[in-house]
Amino acid sequence: MGYEETYARSMADPEGFWAEAAQAIDWFKPWDKVLDDANPPFYRWFVGGELNTCYNALDRHADGGRGDQPALIYDSPVTDTQRTYTYSELRDATARFAGALRARGVEKGDRVIVYMPMVPEAVIAMLACARLGAVHSVVFGGFAAKELATRIDDAKPKLMVSASCGIEPNRTVHYKPLLDEAIELSAHKPDHCIILQRPQSQAEMQPGRDLDWAEAAAAAEPAECVPVAATDPLYILYTSGTTGVPKGVVRDNGGHAVAMKWSMENVYDVQPGDVYWAASDVGWVVGHSYIVYAPLLHGCTTLVYEGKPVGTPDAGAFWRVIAEHRVKVMFTAPTAFRAIKREDPEGRLIGDYDLSGYQALFLAGERCDPDTLEWARDKLGAPVIDHWWQTETSWAIAANCLGIEELPVKPGSPTKAVPGYDVQVLDENGVEEPAGQIGRIMIKLPLPPGCLPTLWQKDERFVESYLSATPGYYLTGDAGYKDEDGYLWIMSRIDDIINVAGHRLSTGGIEEVLAAHPAVAECAVIGASDPLKGELPVGLVVLKSGVNQAHDEILGELIALVRQKIGPVAAFKKVTIVDRLPKTRSGKILRGAMKKIADGSEYRMPATIDDPTILDEITEALIRIGYAKH
Ligand code: COA
Ligand code: AMP
Repeated sequence: MGYEETYARSMADPEGFWAEAAQAIDWFKPWDKVLDDANPPFYRWFVGGELNTCYNALDRHADGGRGDQPALIYDSPVTDTQRTYTYSELRDATARFAGALRARGVEKGDRVIVYMPMVPEAVIAMLACARLGAVHSVVFGGFAAKELATRIDDAKPKLMVSASCGIEPNRTVHYKPLLDEAIELSAHKPDHCIILQRPQSQAEMQPGRDLDWAEAAAAAEPAECVPVAATDPLYILYTSGTTGVPKGVVRDNGGHAVAMKWSMENVYDVQPGDVYWAASDVGWVVGHSYIVYAPLLHGCTTLVYEGKPVGTPDAGAFWRVIAEHRVKVMFTAPTAFRAIKREDPEGRLIGDYDLSGYQALFLAGERCDPDTLEWARDKLGAPVIDHWWQTETSWAIAANCLGIEELPVKPGSPTKAVPGYDVQVLDENGVEEPAGQIGRIMIKLPLPPGCLPTLWQKDERFVESYLSATPGYYLTGDAGYKDEDGYLWIMSRIDDIINVAGHRLSTGGIEEVLAAHPAVAECAVIGASDPLKGELPVGLVVLKSGVNQAHDEILGELIALVRQKIGPVAAFKKVTIVDRLPKTRSGKILRGAMKKIADGSEYRMPATIDDPTILDEITEALIRIGYAKH
């Protein structure tokens, strides 16, 4: 069956389509209803069904003929380590760690926050939670203590799992002091912290609260898989919202397992036994879906890579990993390929490796510029597939589904809607835009399995943020258009979210930090285009009158403050002082116009601007920090 026919089937009979896909998962109890649509706009998949995601990811392979197959390969150029876990070994390690969690009182429904670097134990901790029916919430290591504290207060974890350190090429990141500070800052206090002591650094432990991973696991009884309802939460993953308060995206167990498994074969065209590598981080949705759950649910070998595309040790790192571990399909963000291309524009290092078994590269996380796509395709000699999705969905909304039918690639477009997603481009009144016309990209409800059923304990915010713009539709937050051939083109966000090296950030969140500095009267943060990272946050601040502090000192403090409050991942290094900010007559800051000035692109003078001469001042200020050049 080709793409058009498969897509049409998924639209005409979603229940039949997904019931068939669900046969690929082992259920302890079959579902009563495929789709529960009795309470719109809330929809639930596989209601009445019971399963365990960890059982499907590990036990059924370990006991079903894949026990000796590698499940996880850990490749860490930053520590010069490699380690392989077979399915049996990964199951046993997970069962034991689940036992250690249970011994500290973690049961079905309890939350566990995981704050870890890219080590196999991060995957084990996630799967151990799934095994018990506990709900994990992984927080990316590049976030600062304050961000971690916000998540602790929202998720209220019974226990936290962390490590003594993470290793960045230029420094060791000591996780434990950040963890301690976050717990200090938060109102909710976890009962225990289990800490993986890495050889590179020993964390100081707080007696009574902190436990050593190795000791806790060694003393534990292995735990069995606990059946959970298909609709029970598997995890919460916080992502940037339109305010500084992150949104707790909830993932269920049943729909997620079905969608993950289906996507491996149909989107990525990989088979059980293949080696699949997502070069991301377990702290992001790409890591949840395509480092941990999907490859293991599908019986593949997954790779945990603790390194960078460049500098660990060179721009040939990705080719080495592909060749050495016989990777069939790889997934990363375009920024990684821009970094490689910048260091090795001719792709000379590729020649050092045998990439003959390599099948395709998938890119997502940010807009993929055609130059990068074409460079990767030429150098790799394999299809390069741009696909579009978001934390909220957990898998691709639009893609070239290689396992169904390879469609012609149009560089710059993530191709067409994936089966299950009714993607429409609507205007502000909910009317569909004609081909070629930019509008809000929306998905007609119900969303397919795998997508968020709600936000953690915030049904109202879920409805208000995503479902109220046009009743009956999910607002993706992206703007774009469909062309005459039905290909989607994702152009920009309609909110304050920016994408920095594939990492999702809220400019509003950065503004909140800047505004808290005692010298700052008001400020604006924009996402300026960057040739490597796609976008970078740039701050413009107006000082309070009477401030005598040296400007350089203030700017230094502002940069340090964002690093301290949000984290190094914000990559906030550009900020300038201006006398005033451009505003509409009603007082709205014109961030869009400032972004266009920063990028040196054409802009139309906003008709509602209060005083047009301000834009010249903004241009001069941006030139001073290296922007606004034509
Ligand atoms: N823990 C602690 N700090 C981290 C971190 C982590 N897990 N990950 C990144 N950081 C830090 C970095 O050390 C850097 O700090 P610095 O300001 O001291 O240099 C800062 O956060 C910004 O990191 P990053 O955005 O990764 O930039 P970089 O300059 O170090 O590397 C790339 C640039 C393109 C090589 C890198 O962004 C990359 O590999 N991207 C791949 C894309 C990706 O994984 N996307 C995820 C979604 S698919
Ligand atoms: P995240 O939730 O971090 O995965 O970020 C999701 C957002 O990243 C989307 O809403 C888009 O704005 C952007 N994005 C992800 N993939 C693509 C893509 N292939 N093309 C354009 N933008 C993308």
